[in-house]
Amino acid sequence: MKKFHILTIFPEFFEGFKNTGIVSKAVKSGLVDINAVNLRDYATDKHRTVDDVVYGGGPGMLLKPEPIFRAYETISKEKKPYVLITEPWGRKFDQEFAYELSKKDEIIIICGRYEGVDERVKSIVDEEVSIGDFVLSGGEPAALVIMDAVIRLIPGVVGDKDSLRVDSFSDGLLGYPNYTRPPVYRGMEVPKVLRSGNHKLIGIWRRWKQIENTYKKRPDLLDKVNLSEKDKIILQN
Ligand code: ADE
Repeated sequence: MKKFHILTIFPEFFEGFKNTGIVSKAVKSGLVDINAVNLRDYATDKHRTVDDVVYGGGPGMLLKPEPIFRAYETISKEKKPYVLITEPWGRKFDQEFAYELSKKDEIIIICGRYEGVDERVKSIVDEEVSIGDFVLSGGEPAALVIMDAVIRLIPGVVGDKDSLRVDSFSDGLLGYPNYTRPPVYRGMEVPKVLRSGNHKLIGIWRRWKQIENTYKKRPDLLDKVNLSEKDKIILQN
């Protein structure tokens, strides 16, 4: 079983996520555990304070180190989980990063706040992670995105019928277009090849569309892909 511990001042943020769709199924079948830890429970004063002013002056409040260290130490008594902190300047989260994390048994995600976190917290952090070049007001949406992408990679979580979208990025190319019934809708027809029953042709068509889609929408990805000689012919045309 994979375990996520989310260190946050907004544990309620994760309730909907835990109880919806594929993630909820994974939790119920014991494949994953999502433990949203309220940092206030680890505060050291009676007001359960989690933030404080910045030394040297400056706007906003910082997350204090004590609740984070105390929560971390309680969680990692037996073995040391892999520790991430969400930061806008961190390593860019992508499918490869998700695969790496899917190999870890236990992960702590510290949700940073817009104003920041006391720098000493970095001493327990393995990696800083960003979900893109934009600024969120807190790390909670980033933690959610990271968990979703990682959970669907756990064997048994996504069944065959749900796995279509895995095509995109898993081999470095975008996916091919898919259609369902009806065969013609508002004058738009499902490509004949997909209705032909010829699986060899369908395979060629899908590969062609993957390459075409990637070329049109994300040409930057093509530099990193190992294309076969056949693929290169498609690309030249
Ligand atoms: N915290 C604020 N912005 C963020 C981002 N883009 N990714 C991860 N954490 C963040």
